[in-house]
This record gives sequence, C-alpha cells and structure tokens, in this order.
Amino acid sequence: MKKDFTILGIESTCDETSAALLKGGKEILSNVIYSQIDEHKKYHGVVPELASRAHAAKIATVIGEALQNHPIDYVAFASGPGLPGGLMVGRVAAETLAKFKKVPIIGVNHLEGHIFACDFEGNEAKNKLQFPLIALVVSGGHTELWYVKNYGDYKVLGKTRDDAAGEAFDKVAKLLGLAYPGGPQVSKQALSGKRDAIHFPRPLLPGTWEFSFSGIKTAVSYYLRDHKDFSIPDVCASFEEAMVETLVTKTLLAAKKYKVKHIAVGGGVAANSLLREKMQEQAQKAGIEVHFVERKLSSDNAAMIALAAYKKLEHAENTGRPVKKNIDINPNMKVRSWD
Ligand code: KG4
Ligand code: ZN
Repeated sequence: MKKDFTILGIESTCDETSAALLKGGKEILSNVIYSQIDEHKKYHGVVPELASRAHAAKIATVIGEALQNHPIDYVAFASGPGLPGGLMVGRVAAETLAKFKKVPIIGVNHLEGHIFACDFEGNEAKNKLQFPLIALVVSGGHTELWYVKNYGDYKVLGKTRDDAAGEAFDKVAKLLGLAYPGGPQVSKQALSGKRDAIHFPRPLLPGTWEFSFSGIKTAVSYYLRDHKDFSIPDVCASFEEAMVETLVTKTLLAAKKYKVKHIAVGGGVAANSLLREKMQEQAQKAGIEVHFVERKLSSDNAAMIALAAYKKLEHAENTGRPVKKNIDINPNMKVRSWD
C-alpha cells in the first residue's frame, strides 16, 4: 500500500448522507455531512422511506463536495447494518464512482466505523487505540458491547434486547414534548433538574452483557401518567442518570472481567456529557483509560467509514490475506472478525 493512499468513504446507513476523503489512513481531507434531521423531526424518529429519498437526492452533491478534483485509490462504503433503502443508495453511488474512476471498492461495517472514529483527534487518526479494549457503541440504532482484541478481531459480548440507548432518549423526549433528536434536548433540560428526584430502574441484567432500555422508558411514561405536575428537568435528570449508570456499570464490569486497560466509546450517544463524565470518573478509579469519540465525529460520518476501510486494507496487507470482495448490502450485518 503506498503511503499516501486516498480513500473516498461513503456513509448512508441511517439519516446522515456523508462522503469523506481520508489520506494515508490518517488525514481527513474532507468530511461532508448532510443531516436529514429536518426531514424526520416532525415524526420524532427516522422514517425509512423519507431517509431513502433524501439519500438519493443528496448523495451526488455530497460526494462531489467531498471529492472536488482529488485523485482517489479506493472507494469505501458502509454496507450494513442500516436501513435497506439508504444502503442501496450508498452502494450504487460507490460502485458507479469506483467503475468511473477505475479503482477498487470495499464494503465496511458501520459499527466498526463508530469505534475506529475514537482514534481521530481533530482531522487526524492518531493510532492511539490500545488493545485489547472493551468497546461500547451507543447510537440511535445500536447499543453493543464488544471485546476487541485488535483491529478486526472481535467478540460481541452483548447488544440491546429492545430499544437502543439513543432511541430511549428520543422516545422519552417525545413523551415530554421535546424536539427530535431527543438526546441533546433531554441533556439540556437535565442540567437544571435533580438527578435523584425520581428513581427509574437500572436494568443491569446480571449474568449477561445485554442491555434493555424499554423498561426505563415505560417507567418514565407511567410516572408522567401518574404525576400531572411533574418537573421536566427532574424527569430528564433522573432518566439520564438511570441510563448513564446502566451503561457505565456494564461497561466497567466488562472491562474488569476481561482485564483490559482501555475502553472506547463511540456513536451518537457518546456525545452525552454525563456519560463522558461518569465513565471517565469510574474508569479512572479502576486505572482504565477511556477513548471517547470526539463530539463532531460521534454521529454518522464517512471519515469513520474510510478509516475502517483503511484498517481493513492494512490488515490484509500485513497478513497476506486479501480483503473479501463482497459488496452486497446487509441491513442486519453482524460484527465479525476479519480472519
Ligand atoms: O450515531 P447517531 O448519529 O445515529 C445512529 O447511527 O443511530 O446517533 C443518534 C442518536 C440519537 O438517538 C440522539 O438522540 C442521540 O444519538 N444523541 C444523544 C446525544 N446526542 C445525540 N443522546 C444522549 N445525549 C446526547 N448528548
Ligand atoms: Zn451510526
């Protein structure tokens, strides 16, 4: 692999249409993100059909802005998991561009992207992730805990049985009449509320690494039904406290059980200040270092997809085993080790 190898990444799995250029597996030359939030706002969640249409409408412009006239060596796109319509738009765009530019194409797992994004500082990947580590991916569509032995060497410990963490924030925001996406709104309200005002459950599900957040959300809805004069800041603060305590407790338990000294936290919910603060505090006590994704790269973006592709290509070169050529989309793609 030549040193200044440039990858054009494409991301279209959910409600961001994004394209990015990554040079030498290190430098983000561009990372154009078109967010569809305005399209989905009034429905308080992502509407798949609207998402597909918005991806189709924007992808060419976004790729054009990211690419300018820069030469590229590879096209990478997120081939799953995600919404089928968005994945198809990403694949068609990626394949067309790759054929036109006469460069190879590679499909990558969106969730690997979220974790590898923890390596970026500013516009550079720093190679600072140290393995083995426990990774927590928390977004609007996913909540997963992995044991990561190295790039491409994973064991998925557990996932959510029902709502993803971000989805729970979004649903509670909707119950309270707050805008979508709910995470930032709930967090903002929580700043002026009391975290111990209401005790919502902490579903730790002992003996498993799985999560379940629908019970917390239901407890919030019962509380609102039974208390007509509730305080929105107190509900938000108490809900956020329950969510964060559950995420932090399980992640730290996994880190101790697997005897790792590093944790990586990626995905949209990783932007949550209380989560960052509590995870940091607990990890520090345990002598563990936490690598949070920077806020501007916590949501879906194509720079993280390009970095995941680069790591995959580098691994293939180091091991002498070629990268699989499969570029079929897979809405339910599981995270698998590369070997
Ligand atoms: O990673 P992302 O952009 O999209 C998915 O792949 O799902 O994550 C979006 C999710 C939304 O559910 C949003 O409410 C949540 O991340 N989120 C937050 C915060 N910022 C975004 N949740 C809690 N606190 C935040 N500050
Ligand atoms: Zn995502």
